[in-house]
Amino acid sequence: MSEILLEVSQLCARYGKVEALHNIQLQLQRGNIATVIGPNGAGKSTLLNAIMGALPSRGQILYQGRAIERTSLEQRVLSGIALVPERRELFSSMSVEDNLLLGGFRRVRLGHPQPLDQLATVFELFPRLKERRTQLAGTLSGGERQMLAIGRALMAKPTLLMLDEPSLGLAPRIVKEILHIVAELRNNGMSVLLIEQNARAALQVADYGYVLELGQISMQGAAVALANNEQVIQAYLGFAKAAGCPHKNTNQNITGDPHEKTDHQVICPAVDPAAGQQSDRGCRRCRRCRI
Ligand SMILES: Nc1ncnc2c1ncn2[C@@H]1O[C@H](COP(=O)(O)OP(=O)(O)OP(=O)(O)O)[C@@H](O)[C@H]1O
Ligand SMILES: [Mg+2]
Repeated sequence: MSEILLEVSQLCARYGKVEALHNIQLQLQRGNIATVIGPNGAGKSTLLNAIMGALPSRGQILYQGRAIERTSLEQRVLSGIALVPERRELFSSMSVEDNLLLGGFRRVRLGHPQPLDQLATVFELFPRLKERRTQLAGTLSGGERQMLAIGRALMAKPTLLMLDEPSLGLAPRIVKEILHIVAELRNNGMSVLLIEQNARAALQVADYGYVLELGQISMQGAAVALANNEQVIQAYLGFAKAAGCPHKNTNQNITGDPHEKTDHQVICPAVDPAAGQQSDRGCRRCRRCRI
């Protein structure tokens, strides 16, 4: 029988007078991937930071059946929650291996007899990190940096892995590779809360999904059902329609490239409608407009 690992109720968080999260209700079953999709500024990172304890919040957070909302960030780390933040936050002037070893801190603190035994597992999951173990983290490619950030979190052997937009700024092939590994982790029993703007990729890999808009959960359901929901398709899986974006509804009648020769031409069908229609990918993320 499935068991709820994480249950968030009536969670609110604010920055000064501005409330960024309003009464969030969310559950994650043990051994599942739940994804939270939503546009820029919806409150996705705020949600992860509140669960991690990096940001004050109101409401209830039950983790493994225990209320943790009053515990410190450090206690939450020790209890097996790991966050891979949007900015990766690696130590650029340290080697890949040293960055990974730092991730073993939790197990050192817990007095584990072999706190760094996860290194072999991480290298098995990400052979590229093993090849580059002596390379400085600051010289890694974007995809490798994301692998290192996830690998470092895995060094703690977490029970709950929270990923904040692992696809951010990465080529589709690398996104696929990384999400494939996330699915593999879930298949081996890990529970994952995956925040994504790349709704298509996230819903392909997740078991359950939430749509977060303006700090509120506006929709939820099995990932397959959400991926087939007309509103979700229109807003998140179709073409770019965000207000203020020069690509707004421009999948037809393009008279020129509003962004000139930026690399997002490759992925934004609003600029390259033929590519979009052929691949049926929809607009993943316009890096310039951040749709
Ligand atoms: N440190 C801060 N101080 C004030 N407001 C903030 C702060 N961090 C975030 N916000 C605001 O809170 C809201 C939610 O931001 P958040 O970063 O959680 O969104 P997001 O969904 O993660 O967006 P993105 O997809 O761009 O990462 C936004 O309106 C943002 O401007
Ligand atoms: Mg964010």
